[in-house]
Amino acid sequence: MYHTNQQDLIFECHQRSSCYVMRVDAEQRLRFVTWTSRPATNSTPLFQGLKAPVQVSGGAQRHFAHFDELPAYGDESVRECAMALDIPELPVQAGMDAAHFPVRDVRLRYVSHRIGQPSQSRAGEPQHGRPTSEQGGDWLIIELANQAYPFVVEFCLRCSTDYDIIERYLVLHNRGDQTLNLRHAWAASLQLPFGDYQVTSLNGSWCAEFSRQTTPLPVGNTIFESRTLNSSLNAQSTVFLQQPGKASRLDGETFGCQLAWSGNWRVHIEASYDQSLRIHLGENPVDSQRSLEAGDSFATPLVLAGRSDHGEEGLRRSFTTFHQRRTLPLPLIDKPVLYNSWEATYFNLNLANQVELARKAAAIGVELFVVDDGWFGGRRHDRAGLGDWVVSKEVFPDGIMPLIDEVHKLGMKFGIWFEPEMVNPDSDLYRAHPDWVLHFPSTPRLEGRNQLILDFGNPAVVEHIFQQMTTFLDEHPVDFIKWDMNRSPNAPGSQAGEQIWRKHVEAVHSIIDRLLARYPQLSIQSCSSGGGRCDAAMLARCCQAWTSDNTDALDRITIQDGYSLTYPTSAMECWVTHTVNHQTHRNLSLDFRFAAAMRGVLGIGSSLEQLSDEELDAYRQWIAFYKNVRHLVQGGILHRAALPDIDDGLSVWQFTSHDASEAYVSAIHAGARVVANCHGYRLADLDPLATYEVRNHLGEDVVCATGSALMHIGLSGNDSGQDLAKHPGSNWHYHLKRVDSVAD
Ligand code: DGJ
Repeated sequence: MYHTNQQDLIFECHQRSSCYVMRVDAEQRLRFVTWTSRPATNSTPLFQGLKAPVQVSGGAQRHFAHFDELPAYGDESVRECAMALDIPELPVQAGMDAAHFPVRDVRLRYVSHRIGQPSQSRAGEPQHGRPTSEQGGDWLIIELANQAYPFVVEFCLRCSTDYDIIERYLVLHNRGDQTLNLRHAWAASLQLPFGDYQVTSLNGSWCAEFSRQTTPLPVGNTIFESRTLNSSLNAQSTVFLQQPGKASRLDGETFGCQLAWSGNWRVHIEASYDQSLRIHLGENPVDSQRSLEAGDSFATPLVLAGRSDHGEEGLRRSFTTFHQRRTLPLPLIDKPVLYNSWEATYFNLNLANQVELARKAAAIGVELFVVDDGWFGGRRHDRAGLGDWVVSKEVFPDGIMPLIDEVHKLGMKFGIWFEPEMVNPDSDLYRAHPDWVLHFPSTPRLEGRNQLILDFGNPAVVEHIFQQMTTFLDEHPVDFIKWDMNRSPNAPGSQAGEQIWRKHVEAVHSIIDRLLARYPQLSIQSCSSGGGRCDAAMLARCCQAWTSDNTDALDRITIQDGYSLTYPTSAMECWVTHTVNHQTHRNLSLDFRFAAAMRGVLGIGSSLEQLSDEELDAYRQWIAFYKNVRHLVQGGILHRAALPDIDDGLSVWQFTSHDASEAYVSAIHAGARVVANCHGYRLADLDPLATYEVRNHLGEDVVCATGSALMHIGLSGNDSGQDLAKHPGSNWHYHLKRVDSVAD
């Protein structure tokens, strides 16, 4: 809800329980006023008629106390600015001006505002037409213009009283007759209320994605970024900020933001000695200047920014709920239990072993069978075949239809792997078009995982890949694609020049959007050597993401804690794999592996053909239990009651239905030592007056208690009659159902 006022030009953007306020000052600049809490029951304006000056001080340090929403280079050259561009020429006043061109000075001043739809959609906005469960409403659009040359910016902000999340992006218009050089434009430059903040970020590496780190922000600049052409294994654009001592995991004012973009990005945080803090988010400025032709427009990607009074968990809940309802395309729940044969057969796949796996998978309750890498071209190993998306006769002499038919006969859906952006030099595609890869002339090509990156800055390349994929998909009934991307770039020479960083992402998005529009039953999983391409723009297209190649359940607890900081568990694919894990060589029990994997969209990746009947039966029982609670895991409200690093190794996740009638509680001791105590972990989100029957995963009664007792005293392993102590790997599962209401 927006409260605007023509006279004072104060813009109040009311969200569920917070309020973002800006105003136009006497110099016609758009200023940040505050981002604070608001009474949730009250929809009246709170700041109209505000007479107080907006964060001003005079003198030499003026820039540190003036909080422009759009501090362009010109108004702001001492600190990071919101955008910078070159204007080739402006009129020279004889005797007054020297011809200092190009003009590197932009000053944006308020022109007008309206509520409605921006003139252009943001970069990365999905075009596939698949609905989300909720549509966003109108935007507040504030138009600002440069004074000396008709360069105009639409500042677009959307909020809703259902969330505490703001959406923001910019559309830049060159309305003059010169070609501008756009050095850089952030999607948003956010100002936080004064304070000494700490930042929580998600960093990592292959097999250790989403590793959470919290550090005090030093005075100066802190940068998180991706330069890997995808949203990156090494960092996420999500940052959460709190003032130590004033906020914690469960309580206190917490801010956070992220960029919805699937390519290079940067988050640039500026903390000054006087406690002012700004966060700039956008496409990475490295190697990405562009020209903005006369009459052209340019839209940035979307920034999501949130605020909560309920600590990190409160903000986490806002982000995940927002993504669940507004970002992810339908359907959101009852995503099929999948089997993926990668770790069972790697490149040694053939019809017989895939059929055998499919039969075993169907017998234990799997609903979607996915063939991974190795089914096409000369791909018998990772040194050949990428780029040739035709079924290999060596692997499937009669084509892949016999396997698909068998999978369908077994009552499962069928899925298959692609890595559309890549080519092996040993491939028919590369032999035919060696110039279709990112490279610079007369310079040796550097391979990564024996592969090169296709030049998606060349429309012919994009079209060729799209045609290859649709030729396959037209001939084969495929329900699910695993879209992989397994190397980062060097030598980014492209037909698109420096624009390749954006063009590549646009091409990936557009191929996916066209596929989703053409094949109504198709779902896509986003994978990039694990969690290298998990971002809100990908989630707007994909049913789920592969968070890591590391399938070790213990490591996965940490990875999933990081992922779930902003993304919903309905989009988090998790597998149970071998007893001795292929990545870590650690030996973990089956119940522990299931406990971790049942917290998202369950998948199986084990060598089923090597398992005994008893072991397969155990898989079958766990899968059956998961199916009883998956509507909660995928559609419920997640409350993370305990996290291992804070709660002595214990990880407790509670998924509760929106009407509080049912919940699934997953408790895992992820610590390395025995913890002798067995105090309860307090639940949340239940009806305090209702009575809940609590059963374990075997369906045995554990306890019957009021919501109040469960939320204030809690549940513990002891309640299930299990050992009092928590051993490494102990895990407990509770399915709660409301049996009556004791109200009145
Ligand atoms: C990397 C993925 O993350 C794996 O799951 C698997 O699909 C391999 N690529 C196949 O090459």
